[in-house]
Formats: sequence, structure tokens, C-alpha cells
Amino acid sequence: MDKTLILAIESSCDETAAAIIEDGSKIRANLVSSQIDLHQKYGGVVPEIASRKHLETINLLIKETMEEAGLEFKDLSHIAVANSPGLIGALLVGVSTAKALAYGAKKPLIAVNHIEGHVYANFLQHKDELEFPLICLIVSGGHTMVVKMTGHGEYEVMGNTRDDAVGEAFDKVARTLGIGYPGGPVIDKLSKEGNEKSIDFPKATLEKGSFDFSYSGLKSAVLNWINKEKMLGNEISVADVCASFQKAAVEILVEKTIAAAEQENVKTIITAGGVSANSKLRELLKEEGNKRGMKVFFPPIEFCTDNAAMIGAAAHYKAIRKEYAGLDLNGVANFNFADYIKKGKEE
Ligand code: KG4
Ligand code: ZN
Repeated sequence: MDKTLILAIESSCDETAAAIIEDGSKIRANLVSSQIDLHQKYGGVVPEIASRKHLETINLLIKETMEEAGLEFKDLSHIAVANSPGLIGALLVGVSTAKALAYGAKKPLIAVNHIEGHVYANFLQHKDELEFPLICLIVSGGHTMVVKMTGHGEYEVMGNTRDDAVGEAFDKVARTLGIGYPGGPVIDKLSKEGNEKSIDFPKATLEKGSFDFSYSGLKSAVLNWINKEKMLGNEISVADVCASFQKAAVEILVEKTIAAAEQENVKTIITAGGVSANSKLRELLKEEGNKRGMKVFFPPIEFCTDNAAMIGAAAHYKAIRKEYAGLDLNGVANFNFADYIKKGKEE
């Protein structure tokens, strides 16, 4: 295995993060500076505030990361950065910093798609156990996909959302319930005190054999239910709404992921993205997968949400393939993972 020692930078949304990853999985340093407190009062991420905060934080964060690992820039093998998708102003802070460091330290630059980074969070802990082909369920704030991974950097899209992403649905429901941002972790926590069978929210299964998802119907059903109850003057059990919504949202993810693995006769399942921190998803997917002799892996909770260690893990495999970026690298805001996969195939 080729040796790498990569400084990875992540600034696509509301976390400024830097990490140093050795040979794809050894974490020499990993720092995340979250901006959540700044955005919470607005109920979501304010792009302009995010960019400014990244700018204030990034240099010091990288300095601390290097110090924690006890390294100097000359010791590194590569500089990696998440350059897509995300908020453009936020991405550009990371991209410009990485380019300057790569130029100054004379190190090759590696561009990582943020969602591919989420996929590689699995390899930080489970590198030696993961066997291709595998099925990856990608569930984040902007993505809901089932992907078959046939090798490093090799993907086939089996299913995608036709409208909203599941994380978006969690955030919207939480916002309507007035329980805070980001919604996923709060709903997960409150659901533990609620009765998940109390309200029967609809699950969109779509056509037979399809691995696609639709979350706009479930989201609207929950919002309509809340509004109706409020109009009737009924008291709402927030925990029951959370638990019932979470059950509907998660069951469909599990059904489709298992069905995709069965169809492809794949025995290994991984998950990626913020929603893979969800306790109900972790419990149900493991249970259903294990029942069928499949191995189900999750990234450690701290690596489910945005971090730079996952960017460093993905960059390691790109380094082996010598997939380098030029100093003309740009940030790309709207670069869905499905488009990223397609582009790779065309080249
Ligand atoms: O992957 P991520 O950090 O950012 C994107 O790349 O989009 O995902 C953020 C999403 C948010 O929608 C957040 O509510 C959701 O992940 N999330 C969760 C949980 N933790 C974070 N959703 C459900 N349950 C959780 N425990
Ligand atoms: Zn993310």
C-alpha cells in the first residue's frame, strides 16, 4: 500500500474542519470547529455568515491541526480539500486555502467530492473489513441515494431521491415543531420518549422494483398533520410526532437498501452522511441486514456529520490513483453525487 500523509480541509457548510490522515485511515489529528450556535437562531445555515466564519477560523485551525500531529508542511504527502457540493462562498474558503498551501509547500493538490468523503468515513474504521461490491446508503442534508460500490472510486447509482433529501425532511419537520436546528439529532433524541405507532404517516414506496425515494409527501403529511391539530386546538405530543415521522422516514431507507443488496446479491452494506448517525436507522438496518446474512457497517457517530478526516480518507485512494487537481481548482456548489459519478464515467 502506498504511503500517504494528507492534510485534508473541509468547509462546505457550517463546520470548518482540518485533519491529517496517514495511509487512508490513521487519524494523526482531527479538528472540527462548528458554527451551529451562530446559525441556530436563524433556523438554518446563513451562507454569508458561514463564509465569514470559515475565513476567521481556517488558518488557526490548520495551525492547531499541524501542531497536534507534530508535523510541518514539508512532512506531508498531499493537500486535500472538499471542493463540491456545498455553499459556494464556504467552499471557496477551503479551496483557496488548500491551493495556497499546496503551492507554498509544493505538494500535490487533491479535490474531493464532499459526499464521496462521507462514503469514505466508513474506511476510517472498517477499512480491513469492507469487501467490494458493497451497497452504500447515502443520507445527508442534500442527498438520499442507494449506490453500488464496485471498487475504490467506482460507483453505480441504483436509487436517488426524486424530490427532497431525507435530512432536509428531518430539518423541516423539526423547524415546524419549533425544536431547533439541525433537526435530525433533536428528532432522534425526542423519538426515544415517543410512541412511533401513534400516527400513521405515509411511506412513498414508488413503483415496484424502484430504489428511488420521495420525501416531499412524507414531509407535507407531517406538516399538514401538525397544522390541522393546531387548528383544532389539540395538544400535540412532540415526541409522538417525532417518533412516528422517524419510523416512516427510516423504514423506507432500510427497505430499499436491503432490497438493493438482495437484488445484487451483495453481502456488505455501509451508510454515509449525517442521517447515518440516526439511532433508529442504525438499529433497524443492522437487524434487517444481519437477518439476511449481510454485514452492516456505520461510520463512528463523530464521522457521520461533516469532518475533514473523511476527506483525507477519500483523498488517500485518489492519491494512489494520482488523481490530482490543478491550481486552477474551483469550488462547485451544485454538484450532486450522481452527476459526479456520471462525469467520472464519461472521462
Ligand atoms: O452529511 P451532513 O452533515 O451534511 C450534508 O452533507 O448535507 O448531514 C446533515 C443532515 C442534517 O439534515 C441533519 O439533520 C441530519 O444530517 N442528521 C440526522 C442526525 N444527525 C444529523 N438526521 C437524523 N438523525 C440524526 N441523529
Ligand atoms: Zn456532509
